[in-house]
Amino acid sequence: GQSARVAASAAQSLDELKEALAAFEGCALKKTATNLVFGMGSRQARIMLIGEAPGENEDRQGLPFVGPAGQLLDRMLGAIGLDRHADDPAKAVYITNMLPWRPPGNRSPTDSEIAACMPFMVRHIELMAPDILIFAGGISAKAMLNRTEGITRLRGRWFDYGSAGLKKSVAAMPMLHPAYLLRNPDAKREAWKDLLALKVRLDGGT
Ligand code: URA
Repeated sequence: GQSARVAASAAQSLDELKEALAAFEGCALKKTATNLVFGMGSRQARIMLIGEAPGENEDRQGLPFVGPAGQLLDRMLGAIGLDRHADDPAKAVYITNMLPWRPPGNRSPTDSEIAACMPFMVRHIELMAPDILIFAGGISAKAMLNRTEGITRLRGRWFDYGSAGLKKSVAAMPMLHPAYLLRNPDAKREAWKDLLALKVRLDGGT
């Protein structure tokens, strides 16, 4: 709603945005979550990866993608030379989630929970101003791109992500969620193709 947009757009830095989220009472997920999970990685990173919502491990540690899916994500990123712990902008990845609080029992976030937090997500992207956005999983990809197709149709394709506060649109690619890949190892072939497409773009191809 209105108060989220006002609070988010007033933030002039990532620290201010995190404080504004911590003070935001417009999302019920906050009541049941242990920690606010904001983001992790170099704030100079050119790549920003956006997952869905914190799970149990993330909620406990206050950091995104630190459970089994996160370990697979790190291996996938590592395979193309990327590292969330790197400061070098050539390797760095900044990781966050569309929702900063864990949905109870790891259920999927509802459309209204996603909408409640979206102004903060948009501002998060504006303040990072990355060159590349990666959306992990269908829930994130559909909501961020405002599309109705499922992830199997969206993955591996490049879209333009724009918002009023961005000077230029950002190249954005959905990929299969690592938690999905843990349950469906055969789909790793598709995920590998998408990582290679990302690598080609990073290396200056098209
Ligand atoms: N799944 C997500 O989408 N995000 C996390 O941080 C962990 C698991």
